[in-house]
Amino acid sequence: MKVGIIGSGIVGRVLATGFLKEGHQVMLGTRNINKEDVVKWKNENRNGSLGSFQEAAQFGEIIVLAVAGLVVEDAINLAGKGHLSNKIIIDATNPIATVPPDNGVLKFFTTLEESLMEKIQKQLPDAKVVKAFSCVGNALMYKPNFNGSIPTMFICGNDDTAKQTVTDILTSFGWETEDMGKVEAARVIEPLSILWCIPGFIRNQWTHAFKLLKK
Ligand SMILES: NC(=O)c1ccc[n+]([C@@H]2O[C@H](COP(=O)([O-])OP(=O)(O)OC[C@H]3O[C@@H](n4cnc5c(N)ncnc54)[C@H](OP(=O)(O)O)[C@@H]3O)[C@@H](O)[C@H]2O)c1
Repeated sequence: MKVGIIGSGIVGRVLATGFLKEGHQVMLGTRNINKEDVVKWKNENRNGSLGSFQEAAQFGEIIVLAVAGLVVEDAINLAGKGHLSNKIIIDATNPIATVPPDNGVLKFFTTLEESLMEKIQKQLPDAKVVKAFSCVGNALMYKPNFNGSIPTMFICGNDDTAKQTVTDILTSFGWETEDMGKVEAARVIEPLSILWCIPGFIRNQWTHAFKLLKK
């Protein structure tokens, strides 16, 4: 598949490399292709390509949205809503506010009545948005190694076919997937990132992932 990544931060770069390793074609989208991290990524990933947010959106059959939560709307406008229409959008974003955490508890700019994903779906009504990769650190997004135990990625979204495609991607990336339903489920999936970060902030432990135990 052709994958367009909107966002060249660490999440965009890690997922871009993961998609390349799985044999997909990838364009990493950024506002500045001369940025040091982006140039380094390109040198280490010769078969990947670079472009603007708009070029990445045009290129991708599947899109990954991986920009800072506060600038999601701007990034979508730069990408061009028309280029995202009807496409699967893997939404890895979290609505993290700019204020410091309280005793390791991050603050969000959203409420429990409206998630960032719902805002994105409203901005892109024709797109098949699927929340994924939001509740784990970037170092564990691709082929996480927990000595044989497979961690759970919580996803949600309104389009079942899109969720199946994302589930297949997650399986290839080394995850088991738990579908939590429609877009509103992002109200609880996004805050899992707050929980995930607490051990990191209070005792510098960043190497965990969630697993749903089932009978
Ligand atoms: N870091 C993690 O381990 C982790 C884990 C799970 C989820 N997340 C979520 O994933 C998303 C990406 O996180 P990240 O750590 O990779 O990077 P980040 O620092 O949160 O975001 C970097 C991206 O935001 C873009 N950006 C910044 N200001 C912008 C503006 N004014 N207009 C348009 N775009 C702008 C940057 O564009 P350029 O490409 O042009 O520089 C870059 O692509 C966030 O929502 C984060 O909460 C992060």
